[in-house]
Amino acid sequence: MPPVPESFTAWIHRLPKWRGWLQLSPARPYMHTEGDYNTQYGVTAPDPTEGQGLCALLATHQIDSTGPALEIGCGTGYLSYGLARYYPGPDFLITDPSPAFLRLTQNQLEEHGAVPARRYYAVLNADDLGDLPSGMFSVIALRSTLHHILKVEDFIAACARLLRPGGALMMGAEPCESGYLLMAAVAQSIPAALKAAGIDMRPAWTERLDDFLATVKFSCLRDLDKTNAEDKHYFSPHHLGELGAAHGLQLKFHPTSSFRDFAPPYIQSFHCFSSFFLIYLQFCMSFDPEFVGLIRTHLKDQLAFIDECHRSHPGPEITGVFILRKMASGPA
Ligand SMILES: C[S@@+](CC[C@H](N)C(=O)[O-])C[C@H]1O[C@@H](n2cnc3c(N)ncnc32)[C@H](O)[C@@H]1O
Repeated sequence: MPPVPESFTAWIHRLPKWRGWLQLSPARPYMHTEGDYNTQYGVTAPDPTEGQGLCALLATHQIDSTGPALEIGCGTGYLSYGLARYYPGPDFLITDPSPAFLRLTQNQLEEHGAVPARRYYAVLNADDLGDLPSGMFSVIALRSTLHHILKVEDFIAACARLLRPGGALMMGAEPCESGYLLMAAVAQSIPAALKAAGIDMRPAWTERLDDFLATVKFSCLRDLDKTNAEDKHYFSPHHLGELGAAHGLQLKFHPTSSFRDFAPPYIQSFHCFSSFFLIYLQFCMSFDPEFVGLIRTHLKDQLAFIDECHRSHPGPEITGVFILRKMASGPA
């Protein structure tokens, strides 16, 4: 007789503990101060919309949600908060390699309560999913985390093994290579555009610009050792689709979308290339607001051209929601 699969509850209760957390990996702090994360991204209060949107997508795509959900890389709980509230399954395992992030998420969830699923917190690095039981999870959810994982192909293969048939790996806010390359190409023309307007680049501006261009190049390249970098990769939907298919997962890609777009009030968070580009430079690459204002003015025509090319369809592909669904039967 085949062995009876272990239940989620039995598995959770036999996991080792470390400083009060369930332990699936050694702890590893984030490369930047965890407590500053929300300030950098302007997050001021818990908001369930991101997780609510993910759960709406589960219903729309008829993804199995009767089993436990696993979140990888919870950070400060931006996705976890709504997932904990709206996930219809019985159990929710929230993980991150950084105990400081786990604590921030736990505080938020416990303070703002009213959540149906049972919650568990574990230290987990996605590069070692090997010990997790096969077919345990209906949903594996990530937001802005895949690009931190070293071995993406191994990760997709492991998720395919962990998922139940009909379940899905749901990933949002991941950087797409073609859109970031377009941003870098536009950014390379900033010095010439400012010079033509009689404006000298300040050394601090050149430093930020060089940092952005180096980041794009590093993330595009696939022949480097990225072990020690925090942010590692950009993706193409085509490549992720192929990786998924090799492990029995079928890709549905929603270009330029965020999970929150699928929850009330159903507002598209991506407006257009120019607005994403300018916001990204200021808040993610720390360009000062005066520099960003000059870019807005003096690259106006170039930015307007790209916006116009996408006036009737989503794009360019800078980010999006990736749903890799495990087919009812297949090689995974
Ligand atoms: C950009 S933050 C995103 C946090 C959160 N998901 C959000 O959307 O705000 C990336 C997260 O991935 C986690 N992370 C980094 N490397 C990881 C890895 N190898 N496995 C799992 N999580 C990782 C970080 O600790 C951090 O919480």
